[in-house]
Amino acid sequence: MAGASGSAGGSEWWRDAVVYQIYPRSFQDSDGDGIGDLRGAIARLDHLEWLGVDAIWLSPIYPSPLADSGYDVADHAAIDPVYGSLADFDELIARAHARGLRVLLDLVASHTSIEHPWFREHPDWYVWADGGPPNNWRAAWGGPAWSRDARSGRWYLHSFYPEQPDLDWRNPDARAAIGSVIRVWRERGVDGFRVDAVQQLMKDRELRDERPARAPFPLPLHPELAALEGVRSRTDPEITIALDALREAAGDAVLVGEVYVPSPALGPYLERLDLAFAFEFLHAPWEAAAMRRAIAAAAPLERVAWVLSNHDFPRLATRLGDRAARAAAVLLLTLPGAAFIYQGDEIGMPDGPEGDPPIDRAGRDRHRNPMQWSPEPLGGFTTAEPWLPPIDPERRSVDEQRRRPDSLLHLYRRLIELRRGLRAGVELLDSSPGLLAYRRGEHAVAVNLGERDARTPVSGEVVLATEPTDGAALRPGGAIVVRRTAS
Ligand code: NOJ
Repeated sequence: MAGASGSAGGSEWWRDAVVYQIYPRSFQDSDGDGIGDLRGAIARLDHLEWLGVDAIWLSPIYPSPLADSGYDVADHAAIDPVYGSLADFDELIARAHARGLRVLLDLVASHTSIEHPWFREHPDWYVWADGGPPNNWRAAWGGPAWSRDARSGRWYLHSFYPEQPDLDWRNPDARAAIGSVIRVWRERGVDGFRVDAVQQLMKDRELRDERPARAPFPLPLHPELAALEGVRSRTDPEITIALDALREAAGDAVLVGEVYVPSPALGPYLERLDLAFAFEFLHAPWEAAAMRRAIAAAAPLERVAWVLSNHDFPRLATRLGDRAARAAAVLLLTLPGAAFIYQGDEIGMPDGPEGDPPIDRAGRDRHRNPMQWSPEPLGGFTTAEPWLPPIDPERRSVDEQRRRPDSLLHLYRRLIELRRGLRAGVELLDSSPGLLAYRRGEHAVAVNLGERDARTPVSGEVVLATEPTDGAALRPGGAIVVRRTAS
């Protein structure tokens, strides 16, 4: 497979890695401006090393007018001064590597900021039409995917906000420009990239209309997009042109695709990418049968990145409640393959208050509030007014949970340690309704996603439990990992 062979020169460290998503703006402020930064991240590497993760992924740190919180990049090869300097970045890489932590950047390759110099200097790197929108394509948060450029009078394509014109991946010069960006960061020591919006890279050559959807799309989508088939404005089969270019520039650096498609459709992407997020797993309702289906669909792909939350969707603790958030941690970290943890989930941070006025137009502020390090009012995140309000540092923080061995934080740490011993694939087991159970070689896992106590189909020595249990029955929201004992 190209993805696998692309990494043949290096170790495939990422195969079952735990990757921690840092949302830099909200992780740790070091200079008292209320905004997280790279020196803040350096200061918190202790936490990540203690937790035992293998790598960090930094959401965008590039100069940006912030129409989409940094996913509108104005210079892919620079660091926004609000986050620090290139020297700070080099130091972060060096210090992370010294602790055995790999570093992934966010590669926003499907579009740029409308303020990126490329948009004026190389308009042919973008997708244009004359005389009005040429088709019925819709943008991610509704409305037409075409806007008129006042300067030229032409219409440009934007799959996301109007401030994010789409690059034309059919243009070899545009591909080469992103390739150079990848090389720049690799030369600085980056270990890989989380590639944004991969399904959006390649569009229909003739920009034909989308037909009405024939079946419901299995992941949440804005209703205007969901009404369309989604095979021309995204997921074009010629995506291989883009993926080949990415792979060529990336060499053996890991490429993790944010490909917003159901798991069975990930196959072609995984021929060139190393990993792809299992979004069906993230979006499955917290029900045993639904979760089981999501796992059964993704696990055979082997190179999926299990994920239950990120900066775009409601937080785990809000979706599931505090108890089930513990069980979710067990699920996330005991499946075979890579697992991604979103900052703050390890202490059960819920969704928080929005900015006043709201910052993200799509309502995602509340998944992005500052990290809560200590029980003080500002949570140890900053000494100034934070860019988004804190949630409840007095109620949950890293410091408080570090002191409490039965905390969610300690559970994450124990799971990360335990998963190193889970080498075999996954075998889903029959179990009573409400319960999800699977075997991983010598180990077996049972999670109660139902509303009643349930008997577990697994037996053996209990090596981890989210709450006290005799190992035979689990309360709702409970989970155990057992190891087979010689009989
Ligand atoms: C996915 C990112 O996670 C999201 O935050 C962003 O708005 C879109 N891609 C567009 O870049």
